[in-house]
Amino acid sequence: MKVLLTGSNGQLGRELSQQLETKKINFVGYDMPEFDVTNKEKIIEIINKEKPTVIINCGALTNVDGCETQRELAMAINATGPQNLAEIARDQDIVLVQVSTDYVFDGAGILENGVLRPYVETDPIDPRTVYGESKAAGEKAVSEIAPKYFILRTAWLYGDGNNFVKTMLDLASKHPKLTVVEDQVGSPTSTVDLAAAIIDLIQTDHYGLYHGTCEGQCSWYDFALEIFKLSGIDIKVEPVTSEQFVRPAPRPKYSVLENKALNILKMNHFRPWRDSLAEYLEKLQSVSGKRQL
Ligand SMILES: NC(=O)c1ccc[n+]([C@@H]2O[C@H](COP(=O)([O-])OP(=O)(O)OC[C@H]3O[C@@H](n4cnc5c(N)ncnc54)[C@H](OP(=O)(O)O)[C@@H]3O)[C@@H](O)[C@H]2O)c1
Repeated sequence: MKVLLTGSNGQLGRELSQQLETKKINFVGYDMPEFDVTNKEKIIEIINKEKPTVIINCGALTNVDGCETQRELAMAINATGPQNLAEIARDQDIVLVQVSTDYVFDGAGILENGVLRPYVETDPIDPRTVYGESKAAGEKAVSEIAPKYFILRTAWLYGDGNNFVKTMLDLASKHPKLTVVEDQVGSPTSTVDLAAAIIDLIQTDHYGLYHGTCEGQCSWYDFALEIFKLSGIDIKVEPVTSEQFVRPAPRPKYSVLENKALNILKMNHFRPWRDSLAEYLEKLQSVSGKRQL
């Protein structure tokens, strides 16, 4: 097996690089500007040179608010990019992994017997943002074109890069009091758990669509409280509503995903979100003074 990673300097790309190295799986990592998923000619050149058997596409435009004002760019990177990779994967018999998002759903949740239940892989999608639309189009291209594909939808991702955990820690170092949204619920997910799931899957031929998020759910407010509790930071945090914290792209109120397909295969090794967060914060502390995660 030889893996080619795109977006290798992003949060997930960095974690995958580390785990592939630890597991002694042959891989090469590429990112912008050398490997631009929208430039098909150039990527064919690189793929012809590297001859991977698996491509893991971590390249994406992930700025959800930015996508609202950059529709063309979002569609180029998040939809045409995966389409380019899917065509190459089909033509060269390469396995393709595409990473997707909870934003493909409408974010209202699904009511069953009066309670909201998590989305499963077979629930209908209905994106409400440009980012969600572009990622849904990427999923469609990959599933229709690449014969051997894995699509993993994840959410609330944090790892080596910019993310909510670091934003909270940064804000807490500058302000005596914070306000955090309480009426949006999801599943904080560590890149450590997601990368491990991807590496497990590529060693099988169980191609298809998967949800991959840490277990359990919480609001951004609960998430922030847990970050501060585990970090030993004493700060006043006030819950606010989405209406009090309006963003250019509407955020899903309920976007919990159930890892149903992985459970069926008995391959769901995602940990409870608090456990993965505790490990992440410990790592952050142990490297403080060195490079920050
Ligand atoms: N972060 C989340 O909360 C979240 C939630 C759900 C799903 N996801 C999905 O998970 C995946 C990984 O996310 P992440 O958090 O690791 O993202 P990230 O940290 O933003 O990394 C994305 C990487 O893609 C690169 N990239 C941008 N444009 C590209 C292009 N045209 N061709 C190739 N690479 C390009 C970026 O490079 P530059 O930095 O130079 O632009 C960056 O290195 C993405 O597919 C994302 O949609 C993320």
